[in-house]
Amino acid sequence: MNIKGKTILLTGASGGIGQAIAIRLHKHQAKLILVGRNFKKLEAVNEMIGNNHQIICADLSQTDGRNKLVSYCESLTHIDILINNAGVSHFSTFESSSDDQINQLMNINLLSPMLLTKALLPMLARPQNSIILNVGSSFGTIGYPCFTTYCASKFGLKGFSESLKRELQNKSTKVLYIAPRATDTDINSTSVNQLNKKLGNATDTVSVVADVVIKQLLNETERVAIGWPEKLFLKVNGLIPSIVDKAIGNQIKQIMHFAKLSNIGSVVKLTNKSTQQKTMSRITSSATHS
Ligand SMILES: NC(=O)c1ccc[n+]([C@@H]2O[C@H](COP(=O)([O-])OP(=O)(O)OC[C@H]3O[C@@H](n4cnc5c(N)ncnc54)[C@H](OP(=O)(O)O)[C@@H]3O)[C@@H](O)[C@H]2O)c1
Repeated sequence: MNIKGKTILLTGASGGIGQAIAIRLHKHQAKLILVGRNFKKLEAVNEMIGNNHQIICADLSQTDGRNKLVSYCESLTHIDILINNAGVSHFSTFESSSDDQINQLMNINLLSPMLLTKALLPMLARPQNSIILNVGSSFGTIGYPCFTTYCASKFGLKGFSESLKRELQNKSTKVLYIAPRATDTDINSTSVNQLNKKLGNATDTVSVVADVVIKQLLNETERVAIGWPEKLFLKVNGLIPSIVDKAIGNQIKQIMHFAKLSNIGSVVKLTNKSTQQKTMSRITSSATHS
């Protein structure tokens, strides 16, 4: 699709990947609706790209937040592209995840994009062609330890994208799905970055991901996965998952080690600063030796 002059709603526009996508869409002269919860960050993105785009500050996990966004969109003639990019992640053993964390993550990563998409389908049906692009993850195809809820949400998003794509095959709205691998943004905690470094997992820059997103939109490519050997891993996991079981099995000690640090980090955040420092150094030395 030619992006020039198109009305594009981008969720997660205040985040790492979202900002990089917004910059590129602006260069292609799109009209943007930038969505996030943090107004200051959204304003900073808008200022960076010429200050002539619409900002909607909304918590998409809340009905009120989604309604606010949908009401604004209903005032427009149409929407050409919806990019469901907002997301959160959580790295810990499943057992130690709280019910709230599980509910929130499934809500933001899966239910919210589904409900937002449903509400916006009439506006996406108005132009001759429109696109829904869902930002998934390589963890939407490979189940990875200690990202259990995140993987469940992204597997769900992939299933949603594929089903809706097939459901709308005779309509003017196309559904695309992209699966980035690890990317350098705030969604990844220090423990996740340390784990990736330890395992030698490549981490992309947001520019790499955003360039691929733009190419995908221009070419209307239905399914895109970023990174090698991740692409091979995704295929092997589909065909012979026991091979991937084994490969990940070899990493489990290291994954658990960093997940333990991550759990402790979340608890430490809740205490005051001096206690935090003492607790963290005690914990780090005990975890390093476990
Ligand atoms: N970075 C990676 O390693 C990686 C890998 C694969 C896939 N992805 C996917 O890429 C997408 C973008 O992530 P990122 O890496 O750019 O992370 P990020 O920098 O943390 O950005 C996340 C974005 O989601 C928004 N968001 C979170 N909860 C929200 C809510 N309840 N309502 C509205 N907006 C909300 C945040 O907005 P506010 O800050 O304004 O609240 C922020 O703009 C996510 O779907 C993620 O799963 C990331």
